[in-house]
Amino acid sequence: PIVSMRQLLDHAAENGYGLPAFNVNNLEQVQAIMEAAAEVDSPVIMQASAGARRYAGEAFLRHLIEAAVEAYPDIPIVMHQDHGQSPAVCMSAIRSGFSSVMMDGSLLPDGKTAADYDYNVEVTKEVVKFSHAVGVTVEAELGVLGSLETMKADKEDGIGAEGTMTREQLLTNPDQAVDFVAQTQCDALAIAIGTSHGAYKFTRKPTGDILAIDRLKEIHARLPNTHLVMHGSSSVPQELLALIREYGGDIRETYGVPVEELQESIKFGVRKINIDTDIRLAMTAAIRRYLMQNPSHFDPREYLKAAKEEAKKMCISRYVAFGSAGQA
Ligand code: G3H
Ligand code: 13P
Ligand code: NA
Ligand code: ZN
Repeated sequence: PIVSMRQLLDHAAENGYGLPAFNVNNLEQVQAIMEAAAEVDSPVIMQASAGARRYAGEAFLRHLIEAAVEAYPDIPIVMHQDHGQSPAVCMSAIRSGFSSVMMDGSLLPDGKTAADYDYNVEVTKEVVKFSHAVGVTVEAELGVLGSLETMKADKEDGIGAEGTMTREQLLTNPDQAVDFVAQTQCDALAIAIGTSHGAYKFTRKPTGDILAIDRLKEIHARLPNTHLVMHGSSSVPQELLALIREYGGDIRETYGVPVEELQESIKFGVRKINIDTDIRLAMTAAIRRYLMQNPSHFDPREYLKAAKEEAKKMCISRYVAFGSAGQA
């Protein structure tokens, strides 16, 4: 059934596990996430970005997730709006059946310009008001995502990738986080502690201090009842990059967030771990391999099945690693 994100995150907090939140855009991604969850008995968070709704169309996306609910009646499923760019976007997501919304007020509605703190408080408060009235959970975001290796802000975070940032600018401020949650009453808070969106997070293999775990501990200690969210949490598996390159792809050397770092963050209040890039890489690797190995085949079901299987393997490994396996 569709469940509330708040309930699911509360359960995760009580039992000390984390949940991967996978982005979905099409049928095979929904199937991969669901088949994986069924196999290891994990609850599911599926999330759709504005881009996903543009790609599939609102009705197709909604019915795909509703189909998952119908096909897997025993698995708790959250349908979440990822990076809502305005209260209006969140409102329309709720009207189309989402049980959880993210109001990303760290950015202006253009989705690329960093917003100031007062704006973020104001729009988040507004979304909390109408969402909580109908039992919908609200995730907010405070801070500028960016890599502590390159000291560059996430391109999607409005600062522009050109400028070099200070460490402090790339970390969520704990005093501000406390004030933000008190004012907005959001259920979950996405924080900046060194992750960033996309495949190009780090230029060298991370050594273990790539996330600001001390900062995470401090925020969690001061906001023990706020579920923390980590965006940009793909691990960018080197085996998938190797397959993509072997079968004709061209992706430069790059590294993601090691799964062990994600596991460490779960110990300090991170409950929702956003993953999009790893599914993209898994599907692309499988499709490239399938088509190169079977040059005469042209039935999309064949290469899309291969893509689904590779995505499913990745989903299973995250459910197991984060401890949501066995919790459905
Ligand atoms: O946070 C961004 C997600 O990876 C969604 O990406 O906007 O290309 O759908 P998208
Ligand atoms: P990745 O690009 O690391 O998969 O992050 C996805 C994300 O944060 C979606 O909101
Ligand atoms: Na941000
Ligand atoms: Zn994100």
